[in-house]
Amino acid sequence: MPGVIISALGCYTPPGLLTNHDLEKMVETNNQWILERTGIAERHIAGPDVATSDMAVEAARAALTERGIEARELDAIIVCTVTPDMMFPSTACLVQDRIGAKGAWGFDLVAACSGFVYGLTTGAHFIRSGTHKKVLIIGADTMSRIIDYTDRGTCVLFGDGAGAMLLEPCPENEGFIGFLNEIDGSGGDYLKMPAGGSRLPASEETVRQRQHFVKQEGQQVFKYAVRKMYEVCNQLLQRHGMTAQDVKLLIPHQANRRIIEATAERLGIACDRVIINIDRYGNTTAATIPLATRDAVQSGKLQKGDVVLFVAVGAGFTVGANLWRWAY
Ligand SMILES: CC(C)(COP(=O)(O)OP(=O)(O)OC[C@H]1O[C@@H](n2cnc3c(N)ncnc32)[C@H](O)[C@@H]1OP(=O)(O)O)[C@@H](O)C(=O)NCCC(=O)NCCS
Repeated sequence: MPGVIISALGCYTPPGLLTNHDLEKMVETNNQWILERTGIAERHIAGPDVATSDMAVEAARAALTERGIEARELDAIIVCTVTPDMMFPSTACLVQDRIGAKGAWGFDLVAACSGFVYGLTTGAHFIRSGTHKKVLIIGADTMSRIIDYTDRGTCVLFGDGAGAMLLEPCPENEGFIGFLNEIDGSGGDYLKMPAGGSRLPASEETVRQRQHFVKQEGQQVFKYAVRKMYEVCNQLLQRHGMTAQDVKLLIPHQANRRIIEATAERLGIACDRVIINIDRYGNTTAATIPLATRDAVQSGKLQKGDVVLFVAVGAGFTVGANLWRWAY
């Protein structure tokens, strides 16, 4: 069985910024509350003419450029998103066409904030099976399109962005080490966008009731995230005969600074081995992990051979962790 490496990384965030001070003018909140309770100072927000596929294309092109290959060399494209341009065609189809990936198939993967971890797991198995040589995993979300900017409990949390990682074969025992993913649908009501699907199609009523926006019971999600982020990391490490001391860097989904710090503390991973960039991006859903990985690489904290642990919890509930040996 071949091994799998992450061979390139590309990211995109739109230039527009929404700061805590901007939000103070929109809802009853304040900079201090947002910073203390979430760790977020500002988020990137896409312009009105920018959709998820546009950001995904930018991230994809950046990853291909970094690797120095043409899009037509890709075998598959997985776009992890809960904010597709439209229900169908899939965002993967839109991206495939725009970048000219003539030889690729692909699909969208819906796992909310765990999307990118699930995408990595899925792509790694395509490579491991020997049937695919180049799989591009993209996490892209335009959360600002489904956020209710009159709801102070959610609107302070989210931002827009995209990131892509290229997966390729390598000698066995390099790169991908393992995964542990779970879903728990009993938590579905705590974080959802109720309307726009087959249960509640768009109507004047659903629009009036603001049901096309994210609805969240923040405390329930918080408690679940703190418990599960730790549990899956711990179980995954045990499964591979490793401890937290073997992990050079923890790169968690960026939902709330307090969730990340609680997870790291329970795992016994010191804060200098944890990537936190939520202050500048907020929660970009499927894009947080590639964006945080880019910061880790650029700051020199993640180097060739380092063991990196990705972990996320999201709507569904979805939970996932991946262990990789960084390859470049
Ligand atoms: C949303 C979240 C930041 C709220 O923080 P919290 O500490 O749980 O705050 P609570 O919901 O208990 O609210 C505490 C108070 O702050 C208020 N509040 C909520 N949002 C506020 C805001 N933006 N500004 C000021 N006050 C706010 C609440 O109304 C409440 O007031 P009350 O005590 O008078 O009722 C937190 O629950 C959270 O991060 N949850 C997980 C979110 C998440 O990760 N989502 C994505 C999953 S991938």
